[in-house]
Amino acid sequence: MNKAKDAPTATPSSSGGAGLRGVVAASSSIGDVNGEKGELIYQGINIHDLARHATFEEVIFLLWHGRLPKRAELEELKEALGRSYELPPEVLELMRQFPRDAEPMEALRTSVSALGFYDKSAGDTTREASLRTATRLTAQLPTIVAAGHRLRQGHEPVRPKSELNIAHNFLYMLRGEMPSEHEAHIFDVCMVLHADHELNASTFTARVVAGTLADIYGAVTAAIAALAGPLHGGANTNVMKMLLEIGEVDRVEAYIQEALAAKRKIMGFGHAVYRTEDPRATHLRQFSKEMGERAGSTKWYEMSRKVEEVIKREKDLNPNVDFFSASTYYMMGIPLELYTPIFAVSRISGWTGHILEQYANNKLIRPRAEYIGPRDVPYVPIDER
Ligand SMILES: CC(C)(COP(=O)(O)OP(=O)(O)OC[C@H]1O[C@@H](n2cnc3c(N)ncnc32)[C@H](O)[C@@H]1OP(=O)(O)O)[C@@H](O)C(=O)NCCC(=O)NCCS
Repeated sequence: MNKAKDAPTATPSSSGGAGLRGVVAASSSIGDVNGEKGELIYQGINIHDLARHATFEEVIFLLWHGRLPKRAELEELKEALGRSYELPPEVLELMRQFPRDAEPMEALRTSVSALGFYDKSAGDTTREASLRTATRLTAQLPTIVAAGHRLRQGHEPVRPKSELNIAHNFLYMLRGEMPSEHEAHIFDVCMVLHADHELNASTFTARVVAGTLADIYGAVTAAIAALAGPLHGGANTNVMKMLLEIGEVDRVEAYIQEALAAKRKIMGFGHAVYRTEDPRATHLRQFSKEMGERAGSTKWYEMSRKVEEVIKREKDLNPNVDFFSASTYYMMGIPLELYTPIFAVSRISGWTGHILEQYANNKLIRPRAEYIGPRDVPYVPIDER
């Protein structure tokens, strides 16, 4: 493990135990989270600037190459992505065999793993081959998520349109009709906001797997498994389930008080790094409001604001990226079970950026455990136990 110079360092025992909080486990130039200032940067650029000005495709290039693309480079990337949207027919065929009640994240995980069969250079970890695989995976994840959803609904998948950008194409494939420009734009910014977040659990997982020089498909499959957990990417779906369960703004106070009294965690609040507002939540709060206004009902936004107020007052906790993305996606008509897969559709850019970085300067990631078990224990023969 590398230790970055001015970064916080602590052993699990000195940081009070579990979770590797504050431990620096890699050097990276991809992104940084400053939990005290509430600041997030991708390759040095502030997330607020990227959210206001960049497209998701620009951010993908930025994460993979360390700088913003020139116009021709961006066009080239968009064309390469567009050419790769279609899935190998064998993977689509495999997806048809999945149980109708398969969890979308499990379907995504299995499909990504299967994609590796149909990439002849899957095991090639050179930068050139890895960039090709990263492009293919970034292009194909949205197709898997949209096609998987349609198959579970008993509909035929919609073929991607190579001329559309990722956000536009995803909403089109999901619904079978073109989204409005405004919706496609909001969704594009959601992709920008979720693209990378330093060594979060799934990215760390991807780096650990890539660090063994396993292929990108293996690393991304493992990252998807990590993202599926309710304490990570699974939180956004649970936020919306909670809002639906509360049902009305005037029931928020009692519901939250009861949940806190029962020591239940409120999904979408708190963060392992931020001690301030998550800067991504600032944009998503606005989108939740805008989408509500456009749809003619700000109920879910207002309810979210009330939850935010109560949690701030009672626990001094701030919303994280998952809290307002839930009501934003809900107002876009995106099914709840797709919120976490959508997170993966964006985060694939960060995962692959970190995998490329890991391959470029690889060292097997192999930490130590602080042994807290007994020693010198005699072996007792089975009949004497
Ligand atoms: C994200 C998360 C795992 C970070 O955990 P962490 O840094 O380890 O923080 P802790 O779990 O140690 O929490 C510190 C304190 O705040 C409380 N807390 C943290 N998040 C809370 C939440 N969402 N609701 C209620 N209380 C919470 C904890 O109970 C703990 O209180 P205590 O000191 O009285 O025991 C945690 O905040 C959480 O589970 N949030 C909900 C899930 C979620 O939204 N995940 C998406 C993250 S982007």
